[in-house]
Amino acid sequence: MKDLSVVILAAGAGTRMKSEEPKVLQKVCGQSLVKRVSLAASSLEPKEIVYVVGYKKELLEGEIEALRSLGEFKNINLKSAIQEKQLGTGDALKSALKEVEAQHVLVISGDTPLINSETLLDFYKKSENSSLNIITTRLENPYGYGRVIKDNLGEVEKIVEEKDCNKEEQAINEVNVSIYLAKKTIFEEAIKDLNPNNSQSEYYLTDVVAISRGKNKKVFAIEAKDSSRVMGANSRYELAQIEEQRRHEIAIELMQKGVIFEDYRQVYIDEDAKVAGSVKIGAGTRIYGNSIISDGVIIDGNSIISNSFLGKNSHIKLSCLIADSKIKDNVSVGPFAQLRPGTCLEDGVKIGNFVEVKNAIMQKGAKANHLSYVGDANVGQNVNLGAGTITCNYDGISKKSKTLIGDNASIGSNTSLVAPVEIGAGAFVAAGSVITKNVSPDSLALSRAEQKEVKDWAKQKRKKASKGD
Ligand code: UD1
Ligand code: CA
Repeated sequence: MKDLSVVILAAGAGTRMKSEEPKVLQKVCGQSLVKRVSLAASSLEPKEIVYVVGYKKELLEGEIEALRSLGEFKNINLKSAIQEKQLGTGDALKSALKEVEAQHVLVISGDTPLINSETLLDFYKKSENSSLNIITTRLENPYGYGRVIKDNLGEVEKIVEEKDCNKEEQAINEVNVSIYLAKKTIFEEAIKDLNPNNSQSEYYLTDVVAISRGKNKKVFAIEAKDSSRVMGANSRYELAQIEEQRRHEIAIELMQKGVIFEDYRQVYIDEDAKVAGSVKIGAGTRIYGNSIISDGVIIDGNSIISNSFLGKNSHIKLSCLIADSKIKDNVSVGPFAQLRPGTCLEDGVKIGNFVEVKNAIMQKGAKANHLSYVGDANVGQNVNLGAGTITCNYDGISKKSKTLIGDNASIGSNTSLVAPVEIGAGAFVAAGSVITKNVSPDSLALSRAEQKEVKDWAKQKRKKASKGD
């Protein structure tokens, strides 16, 4: 559809959201509202998408720039039109039309996050070329939406905003969802006649309906049967309801692929996460960002996994925090472990309880089973880090240094490895050591005071105590 421009209205602050960020940058299942609307619009293959920006426009421009790198927008020109003052949705479209290059314009409110390609394609197909077309829907509780007023013949006459409705109009449950399609000229003609004589003193885009009709243009309403696709998000509560809906749908889509949930109502999986079919997920699991969860993975529950890769058959035990990490096949993590950014666990690695790993590679088969900190390190294959092993990577002021441990080395419990330091392959470090110098391969390093024994010392002490002195 090369002769179509999409306009996304996104200049408002979203006062009812009570947030510092522009409303359309709020997220539903990890994706901003404006990204969601843009992805749905991209399926129409328009020539361009024109974003009306205003409030904190630099933040929005940043998001638009990020969209440009996505495949979906490869052949679509994404550009912005500035609305200097937020004088209303009608004024927003006026700002956009100056930038619009195609002959047909689809206008979408940027705060309609569940809009999908099916709804837009259906609307596009059913629309009449010489009319002003609008999507409507019927809501049990239409509060807050503009009502669609029809004449005796069932033709759309006008849209009246909630705040301007009389009692009769308020009772109408067919509402405007703020998605419009018409020739650019139809919008241009109508917009000339907008005025702010209404309860909010704004230039309402909704008024183009009555104005166009007054100019003998037909207004054609196409009802969206699935109203959940066209809900607007104005407040925190509405946003939360929309998120709940989408979260539920994502869980259903995954179950259809074979994912097993302990309780599908208690998982939070972002839109961009990819979960393979044969994965088991416990209650309280959150999978955020671009995470990829491979076949056969088991996640016991109460874990947060963000922007991380989990290889085949790996097991994440209860209550782990995993961020920006790469976990290969057959790895076991937790319970109660933290993998911070830059962690890479090769095949068969074991990370046990109360272990923290950061910016470190653990090679195949390496283990840290209990109570350790492994930071800025490269731990060789099959190395065993005893309970309480700590890499002392920080000089206390500004510098972080590396710990290198060769293959098959064994580090005794409660060892401090003071970086920069290198433990050779096959070396042993005795328990309780503080290692400050490199250890050569296959050696034993031991750095603790020699054990002394004072014969009968305890016996004497008790004897003295019983005499009372
Ligand atoms: C709008 C419609 C209402 C409809 C509802 C559907 C109008 C007057 N009302 O109301 O009939 O039922 O959507 O969700 O259009 N915006 C700008 N510049 C502005 C004002 C708003 O770009 O000056 C943008 C906002 O960022 C937002 C969109 O337009 O993305 C809609 O604005 P909003 O204030 O949410 O309109 P509603 O009151 O929801
Ligand atoms: Ca709205």
